[in-house]
Amino acid sequence: MIKTSIIITLLAIATSYLLLTPTKKSSYYHSLFISNSLSDNVSVSNNLKVLTHRPHIAGSEANNEAAAYVVSILTSSNIPTHVTSYDVALAYPFSRSLVLTNSSTESSFSFNLRQESYEGDPYADVIDEVVPTFHAYAKSGTAIGYVVYANYGRVEDYLKLKEMGINVSNTVVLAKYGKVYRGDIVKNAYNEGAIGVVIYSDKKDNGGSDEAKWFPNEKWLPPSGVQIGGVYSRVGDPTTPGWASCGECERLSMDEVEKGGDVPLIPSLPVSGEDGEKIIRSIGGPVAEDDWQGSKDAPTYRVGPGPGILNLSYTGQQVIATIQNVIGVIEGAEEPDRFVILGNHRDAWTFGAVDPNSGTAALLEVAQRLGKLQKKGWKPRRTIILCNWDAEEYGIIGSTEWVEENREILASRTVAYLNVDSAVGGPGFRASATPQLEELIIKATQKVKDPDNSSQSIYDSWTDSNSSPQFGRLGGRVSDYAPFLQHVGIPAADIAFGKGYPVYHSQYDDFVWMTKFGDPVFQRHVAAASVWGLVALWLADEEFLPFNYSSYAKELQLSMESLKNEISNEDIINLSPMYKSIKELEKAATKINEQIKEIEASKGWKTWKMDHLKVRELNDRLMMAERAFTDRDGLLGIPWYKHLIYGPSKHNNYGSQSFPGIYDAAKMARSLHSAESWSQVQHEVWRVSRVIKHASLVLSGQLT
Ligand SMILES: *[C@@H]1O[C@H](CO)[C@@H](O)[C@H](O)[C@H]1NC(C)=O
Ligand SMILES: *[C@@H]1O[C@H](CO)[C@@H](O)[C@H](O)[C@H]1NC(C)=O
Ligand SMILES: *[C@@H]1O[C@H](CO)[C@@H](O)[C@H](O)[C@H]1NC(C)=O
Ligand SMILES: *[C@@H]1O[C@H](CO)[C@@H](O)[C@H](O)[C@H]1NC(C)=O
Ligand SMILES: *[C@@H]1O[C@H](CO)[C@@H](O)[C@H](O)[C@H]1NC(C)=O
Repeated sequence: MIKTSIIITLLAIATSYLLLTPTKKSSYYHSLFISNSLSDNVSVSNNLKVLTHRPHIAGSEANNEAAAYVVSILTSSNIPTHVTSYDVALAYPFSRSLVLTNSSTESSFSFNLRQESYEGDPYADVIDEVVPTFHAYAKSGTAIGYVVYANYGRVEDYLKLKEMGINVSNTVVLAKYGKVYRGDIVKNAYNEGAIGVVIYSDKKDNGGSDEAKWFPNEKWLPPSGVQIGGVYSRVGDPTTPGWASCGECERLSMDEVEKGGDVPLIPSLPVSGEDGEKIIRSIGGPVAEDDWQGSKDAPTYRVGPGPGILNLSYTGQQVIATIQNVIGVIEGAEEPDRFVILGNHRDAWTFGAVDPNSGTAALLEVAQRLGKLQKKGWKPRRTIILCNWDAEEYGIIGSTEWVEENREILASRTVAYLNVDSAVGGPGFRASATPQLEELIIKATQKVKDPDNSSQSIYDSWTDSNSSPQFGRLGGRVSDYAPFLQHVGIPAADIAFGKGYPVYHSQYDDFVWMTKFGDPVFQRHVAAASVWGLVALWLADEEFLPFNYSSYAKELQLSMESLKNEISNEDIINLSPMYKSIKELEKAATKINEQIKEIEASKGWKTWKMDHLKVRELNDRLMMAERAFTDRDGLLGIPWYKHLIYGPSKHNNYGSQSFPGIYDAAKMARSLHSAESWSQVQHEVWRVSRVIKHASLVLSGQLT
């Protein structure tokens, strides 16, 4: 009797050891991944230097050269890699002119629209390859009219102008960059009847107001610095909305695209702070209110119209260009048909040292470390896919075309999409994520050292000022996570160091700026790669997907508080269907968490072997619950966006509120004041509560 029980005990110990070994092994590799022995700031710095040695806008030969470099690093890290190309509609500037005329003297000043080279610029020999300052997909044409100053060009700024009795009709609007997406600045101006738009970088927002306190002496934008950027309001190739842009495919004409209303219908140009100030000086009329004013040494800002007259003329050249996504695949050993996808874009408006190639350098660092892990015997349980996108700057095109082409496979197999756009623009960690990924990201930041203070973790510095870590949300159409999350419903995250940086999208976003101000010893890049890769490794290797939907329910509950404040008309709008569905989600989340705990507790003692199908079934519920937040009809007026919790607001593409459909409907209702418009709000509330309910059904895995 005693012997038998000893044997049974020994057997049980042996079994549990055998069963636990794989987990032990993967945690060994995970620690190794973030250890100093595998991290390499010198190679990160070198990769960034190579990637940014020339300007490399989408569709250029220089960007193809950068793609070849990414391919070579992935391949030499033992990662099978291929290039997926698309032929997409891009636009480059053909001619630009901006002339300011003093209407009383008729004397004119023609802006040179050039960013000045700086002293000691090591890239002076390739500076002519920087694209002339422009707005991608801007309308070609000429606009001549009195100037009106419209602050940030938001809807509320025009309301203020109306209150002041200013008629914007037939004027050329001057607006500042900063609060809303530049495409919305142009669209709002158009809606007010303006015929052209000039957008400038005000020095109050970009620093450098005192003598030479700007790059290369300080981090601030030089007076001639200009933010280049796109003005298209949607994502993907505008001429192939909803489908992939292959060589021979259905394609809309640009006229048809214009009818769709997502490209601007009036010309626009970006200008520097210096030029913006010159235009400001030409504007008379009423003095703008205090918070519309500039920095201390700036002139008084008035709203106009005129007497300065602007003649803005722009001609764009539309081309069909071939873009290249680089895709590296490390096949999973046990579940090759489950994908963990990491993505970053490569194309840059200029040199792209921060945006986006700090992220590309981090991606290559992750790839090189995974290559070293493979050499030591590690194989991921699930497939890890490393993606380097093209033409993100034009409108998230490379990733969107790929997602549109592979939508069904991605929808049925992808566990999560982890995005890094700019990995480093300065100190300070930040993260945005769908809420079931929060816990995992927090855990990763607790394991990785703060690159700016090695006696604490990233988590410690992240939570320094506020007691709990703050997550952003992914409702904006700001980077390559948009097609994954907002179109297909794949859990997603986006991480970075630094909160905005003054040389954004200008000629000065170069390697020198990075080494002087962004990341002098490249330890922030290394830390970004550590967090990014560690989260990916856990998602790829853990037996149960490390998702926590209780965090999702909690976050939705919090979002309800803001929504309640927004919809002050509470007696008309009944929010209880949403409260009810969130409660159900909370229950389903608790239940699946318990089920996983039970199986894990019994593992190795009660069963000889894990029931793989059972594990798979639970994981599928975790993976697919996010998909349930999508609705086939999508957001009202912008049906490509299927996710009803996180998506862009119709009025602000940068906005990242939850429940954009409800907010948009409420905004409309407040301006129309009709019973019908408020019942539309109620309809949106019902739609959201239905998708939340669907998510809890998927999580519990039960048919009704
Ligand atoms: C603004 O001016 C245009 C003509 O330039 C005119 O048609 C329009 O009615 C004016 N709007 C208001 C509100 O006065
Ligand atoms: C326009 O010319 C008049 C007359 O010379 C001058 O008083 C005014 O300052 C000028 N305005 C600008 C913006 O240069
Ligand atoms: C406005 O600028 C365009 C382009 O430089 C020029 O062709 C046109 O003659 C100008 N119009 C006026 C009225 O000055
Ligand atoms: C570095 O972190 C330690 C531990 O949190 C803290 O005591 C110290 O003040 C930090 N140093 C700096 C320079 O922030
Ligand atoms: C790498 O990091 C070390 C330690 O912080 C630093 O001394 C070195 O200058 C860094 N190398 C580069 C290329 O930034």
